[in-house]
Amino acid sequence: MEMSRRRFLEVCGLGAMGLANVGVLAGCGGGSSSSTGSSSGASSGTVANKDKPLVWFNRQPSNSSTGELDTAALNFNDKTYYVGFDANQGGEAQGKMVKDYIEKNIASLDRNGDGVIGYVLAIGDVGHNDSIARTRGVRSTLGTAVEKDGKAVSDPIGTNTDGSSSLVQDGKLEVGGKAYIVRELASQEMKNSAGATWDAATAGNAIGTWASSFGDQIDIIVSNNDGMGMSMYNAWSKDNKVPTFGYDANSDAVAAIADGYAGTISQHADVQAYLTLRLLRNSLDGVDINTGIAKADDAGNVLTEDLYKYVEADRSYYAINVAVTADNYTDFTDSTKTYDGVSKQLDSSKSAPKKVWLDIYNAADNFLSSTYQPLLQQYDKLLNLNVDYIGGDGQTESNITNRLGNPSEYDAFAINMVKTDNASSYTSLLS
Ligand code: BGC
Repeated sequence: MEMSRRRFLEVCGLGAMGLANVGVLAGCGGGSSSSTGSSSGASSGTVANKDKPLVWFNRQPSNSSTGELDTAALNFNDKTYYVGFDANQGGEAQGKMVKDYIEKNIASLDRNGDGVIGYVLAIGDVGHNDSIARTRGVRSTLGTAVEKDGKAVSDPIGTNTDGSSSLVQDGKLEVGGKAYIVRELASQEMKNSAGATWDAATAGNAIGTWASSFGDQIDIIVSNNDGMGMSMYNAWSKDNKVPTFGYDANSDAVAAIADGYAGTISQHADVQAYLTLRLLRNSLDGVDINTGIAKADDAGNVLTEDLYKYVEADRSYYAINVAVTADNYTDFTDSTKTYDGVSKQLDSSKSAPKKVWLDIYNAADNFLSSTYQPLLQQYDKLLNLNVDYIGGDGQTESNITNRLGNPSEYDAFAINMVKTDNASSYTSLLS
């Protein structure tokens, strides 16, 4: 406790000497003034927008075709970070969860007894690196991936009921001394006609189409997220008792595990939502960036090492994923519950109220609206941040950027882009 406080004063002292760093000055100024109540916020008059804290979250600035990180956006200023989760570890965890399920339940799985375990895959967004990692993780673990340039192909295949697709291959699995083939029967990007990706309704329609032409071959359904997974489950697989796997551990999906939804992955949104706002808070206060993260703050908030990792080269904090299945789902029933270890109120005399602009790329996105935002709305109070939440239409960046008319009103920004390539649409407004 004493340490963090001393560190705070030290940083402020240094900040005051380094006149160039106006952001730190503003943070220290805020830290020493007393609380001015809930409507308070901006003391940003002296800080240029380009020097204000910025956190990208959920969609990592990157090239949507190659996945290459947009280092300019990630290093927009020295108070810029990305918060997401470990996409590769998550993709592998999802693949392993499906494979474990097959091995355990093989006796009842092959519905038409043809020796082929057929699955269909709902793809969220072909240009989103999290979606790509999940598709790769599932294919690689099930042995259906084909490699190109050293990487598993993640393209949608359309239909492949006869196993002839060149984008995937038949996997081989031996369970209980018997050999099975694992086949991706079909996959599709779930994008609606207006251009919104990860679209749950599109997935519900797709399973209808697939089921009516080759329903008896479908033994498993895998989805890049729970929004699409639950839509397929409600439309078809619940009644037909076909195990369905999603991602996100949204409350409705976790509840459905009791009725037969096969599993999901928690990307630890409770940790991500905290990090999103906590990094802004720390930058605003001019304290060590890992305050309340790797090391306890004065209130006792701290995250344990198994929950996240920081990769300096990416300027990114990544939450760790865990599988949620029939074995452990009762621990995950409320996806909007803040993480216990970081749920203590900050003292507003040290962390004064500040104003934050934050957007959600698609107000209709299942995960962001039903899990992530409700968490943010609890952490904002604990961290004394007055956040303006802007909900986008999931299709155009301008729908969101148009609502960042006066960045000078805000002390800090948290951005969730429509397309991972589009960071400059935002940074140009701050520059
Ligand atoms: C989530 C999806 C969501 C997407 C939005 C992903 O991390 O798993 O459910 O649609 O983020 O960008």
